Amino acid sequence: MSTAVLEGQPTAPAEVPSFTATLIIRRYDPEVDAEPYWQDFDVTMHGTDRVLDALHKIKWEQDGSLSFRRSCAHGVCGSDAMRINGRNRLACKTLLKDLDLSKPIYVEAIKGLPLEKDLIVDMDPFFESYKSIQPFLIASSKPEKERIQSVAQRARFDETTKCILCAACTSSCPVFWTDGQYFGPAAIVNAHRFIFDSRDEGAQVRLDILNDKEGVWRCRTTFNCTDACPRGIEVTKAIAEVKAAIIRGKA
Ligand code: SF4
Ligand code: FES
Repeated sequence: MSTAVLEGQPTAPAEVPSFTATLIIRRYDPEVDAEPYWQDFDVTMHGTDRVLDALHKIKWEQDGSLSFRRSCAHGVCGSDAMRINGRNRLACKTLLKDLDLSKPIYVEAIKGLPLEKDLIVDMDPFFESYKSIQPFLIASSKPEKERIQSVAQRARFDETTKCILCAACTSSCPVFWTDGQYFGPAAIVNAHRFIFDSRDEGAQVRLDILNDKEGVWRCRTTFNCTDACPRGIEVTKAIAEVKAAIIRGKA
């Protein structure tokens, strides 16, 4: 009998190669540990698994006490930013196969925010900065229908609308590490989103807030934030545009 595959017939899925990944995770339980410590885990993973999949596997099969945040698992909610091999990344967007699997993968919480447990930090200071730049439309008039905006006007701030508030930028910033009062890149990105929105009337209020000693002038243009952003936002450029708007007014 012929074994030829007929056109349109489903074929068996190709075998997905498996491999062993070693994760060294910085653990901390404030109820038990005086100091954080590193713990290593070996896990068998497959083809396109991500760091988040490895963390799930460790939690479900080896140590249920491992704590981390995640929700969407698809780079949308912004809840699983962490330091992976020393760089801020979303665990759900970091493919294991893109890392050097001949070496252990170091995973720890993002820096500059109070450590709560394992990979979880207290995000309150981050969201306080975000709230302080008034991240909402300020407009005195009430149109009968929609607020009209041209394609070019919309394009002016398109990039900064993509922020998912993951804090990867702010917690990669050396100024933020040493001075928790600095607003940080994410707050400035979200101020940019409204400052350059033609429908908004609160630009000067936000520029005055960011002209503060803890505002945009603390930025040292190290580009860590741009490198860390999982949405590809040119964070340093957005900060530079806000600085220019403070000096020359918004273009
Ligand atoms: S600008 Fe990028 S890195 Fe910063 S909070 Fe928004 S999405 Fe995250
Ligand atoms: S889990 Fe939502 S962005 Fe990674």
